[in-house]
Formats: sequence, C-alpha cells, structure tokens
Amino acid sequence: MTSARPPGRVQYDNTDRVAIVTGACAGIGFAIGEALAKSGANVIGADVDEAAAQRLPHGVEFLRCDTSIEDDCRRVVETTIERFGGIDILVNNAAIQPTESYHPLHELPSEVWHRLVGVNFSGYTYMAKYALGQMKEQQSGVIVNIASAQGHRTAREVGVYGPIKSANIMQARQWAVEYARDGLRVVSVSPGAIYTELMRANLDAQGGGAAIANRHPLGRIGQPEEIAHAVLWLASDDASFITGTDLEVDGGLGAFAAFADPYPMPE
Ligand SMILES: NC(=O)c1ccc[n+]([C@@H]2O[C@H](COP(=O)([O-])OP(=O)(O)OC[C@H]3O[C@@H](n4cnc5c(N)ncnc54)[C@H](O)[C@@H]3O)[C@@H](O)[C@H]2O)c1
Repeated sequence: MTSARPPGRVQYDNTDRVAIVTGACAGIGFAIGEALAKSGANVIGADVDEAAAQRLPHGVEFLRCDTSIEDDCRRVVETTIERFGGIDILVNNAAIQPTESYHPLHELPSEVWHRLVGVNFSGYTYMAKYALGQMKEQQSGVIVNIASAQGHRTAREVGVYGPIKSANIMQARQWAVEYARDGLRVVSVSPGAIYTELMRANLDAQGGGAAIANRHPLGRIGQPEEIAHAVLWLASDDASFITGTDLEVDGGLGAFAAFADPYPMPE
C-alpha cells in the first residue's frame, strides 16, 4: 500500500529545451531530471554528490555545485548558457533535512540553522538570481521551486525546515510577480511525503513509514516520479496561464484537518 505507483501517461515534448535541476543525483531531483531528459530536454544536473553522478540517467549532464555557494551557482548558469545558448527551465530542488535539525528552536544548534538556510534558502536564491538574468534577456523561461507540505503546515520540532520551505513558496511568488511582464513564469510545488533518501532518514522522527502513509488520505507515500509529472506539466505550455502559485502534490495530506479522526491503520 505504501509504495504503489500509478504509471505516468502524459507525454511532453521538451526537444531543444534546456533545463537545470539542482539536487539531480537522488530522489525527486533525479526523477525530474530523468523525466525532462526522456522528453527531449538538455538537462544539467547540479549536485554536490560526485559519486552518485555516475548513475545519472542518459541525457542528464552532471555539474558539481554546492548550491549554498553563490559562485558555484553562477558557474552552473554560465556553463549551461555556454553549452546550450540559454535556459528554459530551472528546478530549484536541492535541499537538506538532517536528523539533527529536528529540534524546537531553543535547542537548535546554530550551525544546523546556517546549513539549512545556506542550501534550502540561499541556494534557491542564488540559482534563480543568475537564471533570471538570462531568462529576462530571452523574455522566456519557467522556474519551479520544490517547496513542501511543511511550507504550509507545521509540526513539532521542525524549527528551521518548515519556515524555509514556506519561504520557497514566497520566493516563487515574488519572482513571478517581478518578472511576469518579461514572459517568465515561476511556481512552486509542495510534495507530501515522498519515498527518497531524505524521507527515509527522517522516518523515525515522523512516526514510521506506515504511520506517515496513513496520514495521507490516499493511504500511501508518494513516489518521486509523481512530483516529476507535476513539474513537467508546470514547465510546459499546457500551464501557460499558471504563475505565482503553489501546487500541493501530497495525496490529500493538506486537505485533511488535524482535528479529524485519523484513518484507521490498515491491517
Ligand atoms: N522526500 C520528501 O518526502 C519531501 C517532501 C517534501 C519536500 N521535499 C523536497 O524535495 C526536494 C528533494 O528532496 P529529496 O527527498 O529528493 O532529497 P534527497 O536527499 O533524496 O536528494 C537531495 C539531492 O540534493 C543533493 N544536495 C544536497 N545538498 C546539496 C547542495 N548543497 N548543493 C547541491 N546539491 C545538494 C543531494 O546530493 C541529493 O542528490 C527538497 O527540496 C525537499 O525539501 C521532499
């Protein structure tokens, strides 16, 4: 029940489009990079994990990048433009949620706070800052920020991750408004629990896999490909009137009130 994955049926043609996906070496970013490449895009996968880069799918080219370092982000954008002549899609996806970030604020080590701000907030800003310059010149482009259900609603002991995910939603709105008349669209996607390394590392902190799955009205944890499907749609011309908004891809999690009776645990 927790791992069933509906097949994706919609096909997009991204031939000759150029995409940058941060955090493309694993999880959701991997699935997004793979889906974009399969649909014909030239994809740059910007990630810190050089070892995992060996396993990137065909069509995704690795560039080493620590998104918390502004110069790395500038170099990724410049290299992409040199290689392909422009940028059509930026997916800001690289983020961290280390187990040591599960603290109420007064117990949160400052080092952990700075690390999360660096990757999860500044990283999105740096990548967008350089991509937006190019997209404005082109008068076209789409940016998708991967935010989170935790950017909308919070829980105990996520004193830093949730507030920054909320900021990812607001970054998208601000950039959307700022650059709308330049032909750019900027949106965010807020996943519920999705099977990835990041989620597996935090299973215990969230009550275990079965309990997390059961909190989602659809009764399961999502798959990275289900986020990729949403991103491909939002990046396509089928979503041409969609900007400055957030799409919750969460199996109904956000619709389910905390005061409601929980679903009975499946046998
Ligand atoms: N998995 C979930 O349940 C879930 C739910 C909601 C939101 N999200 C969001 O989805 C996104 C992807 O999460 P995931 O679960 O696939 O994570 P993951 O940990 O499985 O993969 C993250 C990838 O980012 C890379 N990365 C980490 N730090 C980096 C840095 N400084 N610079 C460049 N790359 C870096 C890692 O090497 C890895 O390849 C994140 O923004 C996360 O907040 C995930």
